[in-house]
Amino acid sequence: MDDPVRRHPTRAEQLEILATLVADQAATGDRVLDLGCGTGFIAKMILDRRPDLAVTGVDRNATSLADAAENLAGHGAEWIEGDLEAIDGIAIPEGPYRFVVTALTFHDLPDEAKRGVIGFAARHLADGGYFLLYDRLRLTEAALFPLQQSIWDRIERIHGVAMRSAESFSAYAADIAPNNRPASLEDYFDWFAEVGLAASCLHLHGNVALIAGARRES
Ligand SMILES: C[S@@+](CC[C@H](N)C(=O)[O-])C[C@H]1O[C@@H](n2cnc3c(N)ncnc32)[C@H](O)[C@@H]1O
Repeated sequence: MDDPVRRHPTRAEQLEILATLVADQAATGDRVLDLGCGTGFIAKMILDRRPDLAVTGVDRNATSLADAAENLAGHGAEWIEGDLEAIDGIAIPEGPYRFVVTALTFHDLPDEAKRGVIGFAARHLADGGYFLLYDRLRLTEAALFPLQQSIWDRIERIHGVAMRSAESFSAYAADIAPNNRPASLEDYFDWFAEVGLAASCLHLHGNVALIAGARRES
């Protein structure tokens, strides 16, 4: 199984937190939707803790989905091929979902698709449900970039593994590409608010965030 922690050691704690939140809060039989599920790494973290939950994983990569099906054979999981850039066209079971989760996938999506997926999540959450979004954030302040570089350097010193970094803010900005378009925390808060989700950043390590959304009480 592709292991997103191997190359990025600080992710271990953050993904463990994500899985723990689901495991602690879900009730038996609750449904979990994993958008950009890849080979099922997050689904496995969740189902290992809570085999009584039902996970639906969505990804556009058929090979990854086949691996996910193999990796989680015997678990309560289903795998659906589809493009999150056209999420309303994917035959995702209606839900509702107690948790919609997405890990390390949003930076692959154009901003309009990010907003579409956030809106989809808001519409398909069960009462009391949560949307958990885990991904890199866009760095927007050139003046603060040296501090971010220190965080990357520190991670490399401690773990011996380098994270994605850049020589300068302009090099960082130039590296933004169709498959590397993280959004800023401010954008996420705006996009959550526009679909009626109260948002909070639950955990932040450097520029990698776990953001949670919950439907606002009307
Ligand atoms: C870095 S992997 C993360 C996989 C998994 N969430 C994890 O943490 O191990 C990103 C995943 O997002 C999927 N993905 C990216 N863009 C997508 C899109 N437009 N529609 C569906 N899946 C997409 C990729 O195929 C890949 O499996």
